[in-house]
Amino acid sequence: MAAASVVTQSASRPARDDGVRVVVVGKGGVGKSTLTAMLARTMARRGASVLAVDADEQRNLGSTLGLDAATLAAIVPLAANADYVEEKTGARPGEGAGAMLRLNPNTSDVVDRLSTEAPDGVRLLVMGGVARAGGGCLCPENALLAAAISNMRLRRGEVVLMDTHAGVEHFGRALARGFDRALVVVEPTLNSVQVGLETAHLARDLGIGTIDLVVNQCRSRNDRSRALGHVERLGGFGFDSISEIAFDEVALTVEPSIGELLDDSLLAAGVRELSDLLLGTHSNQAEGLVAVLGAG
Ligand SMILES: Nc1ncnc2c1ncn2[C@@H]1O[C@H](COP(=O)(O)OP(=O)(O)OP(=O)(O)O)[C@@H](O)[C@H]1O
Ligand SMILES: [Mg+2]
Repeated sequence: MAAASVVTQSASRPARDDGVRVVVVGKGGVGKSTLTAMLARTMARRGASVLAVDADEQRNLGSTLGLDAATLAAIVPLAANADYVEEKTGARPGEGAGAMLRLNPNTSDVVDRLSTEAPDGVRLLVMGGVARAGGGCLCPENALLAAAISNMRLRRGEVVLMDTHAGVEHFGRALARGFDRALVVVEPTLNSVQVGLETAHLARDLGIGTIDLVVNQCRSRNDRSRALGHVERLGGFGFDSISEIAFDEVALTVEPSIGELLDDSLLAAGVRELSDLLLGTHSNQAEGLVAVLGAG
C-alpha cells in the first residue's frame, strides 16, 4: 500500500507518563498472542488497567483472551469502521496514495467507542485486516491507532499491550511511535531468533527505548542457552532484559483460550515474573545477562 501524504504533523508524545506501552513481536507461532493474553489478564488481576490491542489481521487475540464466540462475532475492528476512521483522519481505510491524513486527530474516544470488554476487565481493541502495511505506510487506520496510543496519558498501573502479526515488515514508524517497550518473543530455534533479532534492530531504529527478549517454550535450561547462543552467533544485541517461559503442554489442551492457565501453570509462573518486570515491580533486571551477550 502506498504511503499517504502527511498534511499535519502528529503532536509529539505528551510528556512521559507513568504507564506502560508494550508491543509484542516475533516470528509466527512463537507465542506472541498467548503471552499477550496471559500478560493482559495477569496484570488486570493484579489491579492494572489493561488495554490489549490486536494488530494481527488474523484477529485471534480475542479468543486467546477467552472471549466467547458471540462476543467475538460482534466486534467491529477499527479498520472496518470506515466512517469513524474518515471522521478522525480525513481518509477511509485502504486509501493510501494521495490521501491527505490528519495525523493529530482527537482520539480520546477511540477506546470507549471501539473496545470490547474481555475477561478480568481487560479492554480489547481490534485493528482488523490492515496491519501488513509497509514500513513507512501511513494508511489512515494505522495512523489513527498510532495517534490514539501516543496521545493516551497513562497513569501508573495503566498498560497497553499490542499483539502483532508475525515478522517485521508491518512494523512501521507510525505504529512504533507510541510504544516505549518491545517484547521480542523467540523460541529456542535459529529461525525464530533470527526474526527476533531483525525485529529488535528495527524496534531500536524506530526509537523504542526498551527492548526485552523472551525465550518462550523452553523445555530445559539448555533451551534458554541455545537461544542465547543463537543471539550471540547472529551478532548479539543489548537486550534490556532476558526472560524465559517454560514450555507448558497444558497450553495445547486448552487453546485457544488461556483462561485455564492463569491460576496454576508453568506458563503462569513465567508470565507473573514478566508482568512484574513490565510493571516495574521486579528487582532482577537481568543486567548480568545483557553483559554476557554484549551490546551488538
Ligand atoms: N509456553 C508455551 N508452552 C506450550 N505451548 C505454547 C506456549 N506458548 C505458546 N504455545 C502454543 O503455541 C501455539 C502458538 O502460539 P501463539 O498463537 O500464541 O503464537 P503467535 O506468535 O501469536 O502465532 P502467530 O504468529 O501465528 O500469531 C499455540 O498453540 C499456543 O498454545
Ligand atoms: Mg498471534
